[in-house]
Amino acid sequence: MVLRIGVIKGDGIGPEIVTEAMKVLDQVAKVYGHTCDYTQLLMGGASIDVHGVPLTDETVAEAKKCDAVLMGSIGGDAKTSPWYQLEPSKRPEAGLLRIRKELNLFANLRPAVLYDELKGACPLKEEITEGGFDMMIMRELTGGLYFGERKTVEENGVMTAYDSLTYNEHEIRRIAKRGFDIAMKRRKKVTSVDKANVLDSSRLWRKVVEEVALEYPEVTLEHMLVDNCAMQLVKDPKQFDVILTENMFGDILSDEASMVTGSIGMLASASLNETKFGLYEPSGGSAPDIAGKGIANPIATILSAAMMLRFSFDLDQEADAIEDAVAKVLEEGYRTIDIMSEGKQQVRTDKMGDLIAGNIG
Ligand code: IPM
Ligand code: MG
Repeated sequence: MVLRIGVIKGDGIGPEIVTEAMKVLDQVAKVYGHTCDYTQLLMGGASIDVHGVPLTDETVAEAKKCDAVLMGSIGGDAKTSPWYQLEPSKRPEAGLLRIRKELNLFANLRPAVLYDELKGACPLKEEITEGGFDMMIMRELTGGLYFGERKTVEENGVMTAYDSLTYNEHEIRRIAKRGFDIAMKRRKKVTSVDKANVLDSSRLWRKVVEEVALEYPEVTLEHMLVDNCAMQLVKDPKQFDVILTENMFGDILSDEASMVTGSIGMLASASLNETKFGLYEPSGGSAPDIAGKGIANPIATILSAAMMLRFSFDLDQEADAIEDAVAKVLEEGYRTIDIMSEGKQQVRTDKMGDLIAGNIG
């Protein structure tokens, strides 16, 4: 099979971690008889440097021609990078928001799993994490505050900023359906997270989610207020299976969930539309402070490549092979610095990629 993969290496540690994921994909292709046909795409700061904007129309068109896009990370240090001297709509993050919207990637899947091998890196007490945890955060990605109207104006001599949070029932229904579909393949529990004690958008969210739930009688639905959810994630993360939530709550909760797994460098993500197309990226950011040092953890990107094989190409066996190889390398005691603990063998970014690729086939 020919896999047409768009590649956005991006900024910061992006190029280093994507290089390792491509190494692993190439090994999978070799072993299972596929061809990876990569198209390099510029986005974020890397695109600003060349084109003056974080995403061009041509890049969007190129991305649409691919079957899936694998991405590293975008953005730089807001204090020192010249990209942040630009107006907000020209900064690296605007490119990411635009590509999500252009490709209609409304469903963002962010799995947060505590690996047995990495329990030591988890900041929670052992009695809380005993038995591990495995949750899927389903974040709505193309609506809400991130895409609502915004402006900053002077009103009666007072600077005033507006951001509007809008959701319509169709937007809520399609992500809720995805959430329940995923729950059916997991432990059949959905926790829908909102702020229905205050926000109208959350009250509509709750109503539509309840309607969708009727179509999934096997799935247990519970509602949770977002502030309580932030607390429950550190108090008892085991209780969660699928967390279904809107854009900004999902942004915040997924960072929190990743932290309790021990390393954001381990967490993959997939952003999907109604078709098989998806954009796959690590949950973490561009980490400009460690860029170019060869110490970044490439595992989240490698696991994102596995999600790509599974969701966009239906290549489950190949995806399993990557996930098994990651587990094997961790079992053998190899660690990048972010997940290092006593008695383990510390390796650099490229060595981690070599080891994982070496365990395929
Ligand atoms: C993420 C990031 C982005 C977001 C930023 C870079 C715009 O934090 O993917 O979680 O908020 O969606
Ligand atoms: Mg985020």
